[in-house]
Amino acid sequence: MHALKETDVVGSEDLPIFENAQSWRGPELVHRNDWIHEFSADEISEIDAAVSHLDAKGVDILTIDRSMFSLPSLSAVLTSAKHEILHGRGFQLFRGVPVERYTPRQSAIAYWGLGQHLGEALSQNGKGHVLGHVANLGLNYADPEVRGYQTNARLPYHSDLADMVGLLCLRASKSGGLSSIVSSTTLWNEMVRRRPDHARTLLEPFYYTRWGEIPEGKLAFEAIPVFAPWHGSMIANYVRSAILKAQSLPGVPPLTLRQVEAMDFLDSLCVDPELHLDMAFKPGDVQLLSNHFILHSRTAYEDWAEVEKRRHLLRLWLVASDNYLEWSTTT
Ligand SMILES: [Fe+2]
Repeated sequence: MHALKETDVVGSEDLPIFENAQSWRGPELVHRNDWIHEFSADEISEIDAAVSHLDAKGVDILTIDRSMFSLPSLSAVLTSAKHEILHGRGFQLFRGVPVERYTPRQSAIAYWGLGQHLGEALSQNGKGHVLGHVANLGLNYADPEVRGYQTNARLPYHSDLADMVGLLCLRASKSGGLSSIVSSTTLWNEMVRRRPDHARTLLEPFYYTRWGEIPEGKLAFEAIPVFAPWHGSMIANYVRSAILKAQSLPGVPPLTLRQVEAMDFLDSLCVDPELHLDMAFKPGDVQLLSNHFILHSRTAYEDWAEVEKRRHLLRLWLVASDNYLEWSTTT
């Protein structure tokens, strides 16, 4: 028997197994550091130069584009990371953005500028925020209007609505708040091996709420399969809270027991320590994930009493123009 090549697909015709760059398991990566890039002193100097120039000019952060945020040598590192995120293992961690000596505005310029070298920023909510704040506002996640990033609650494994999601850590929590990621390709493979019936169910469309943010001419919901084969890979889209919230919308068929059991099984695989990879953020860390190949989660956390010390992350949702996927089957 030959060793599997990167592009080999095994399994049955309708339920293939993908052994490729995306199909990693967390414990294999814990003791490796090829997914971590610590910025060198020279690279930080490049970031410093771009930030101080734009900060001194008083430039509106959201008008900064790639050409304005010049990174003579770091640009190639970011391009290579982007390729790894979109077409390889699906994630990257950068360390060492000097947020401790930056003002909040300088940190935002640095993060926005780095993001411009990776993709185009998307709005993350109905207010049109493209540079989002992830912080505990003391809100209750059980409130239907509240999004998970505004709380300190555990967030179940899910994907976001962009090609990539990035987080810059400005301040870490007092305790907890680990980021946890899992390869959705590995989740698929495990489903096929252990419960092919559930795998088959998750190829069907599931109905998602649009959270009241409905483009003109569109319905309040959209139908998207959890798993979909795409160009020789398996991509995933999974936000169980959005599926549950769609259930109250007129026109959405009720979830079947079979669908609920398939999601339960998927959730049980996500929390399997043999599959996921946890990471603790330090100030200056930038985590970048492909939403097509990674589900992410966060453990609950305890914050500092002092407001100025509390956990605070900046978030970007990025679209890569060469990789945008339109999966919606409902218009
Ligand atoms: Fe998320």
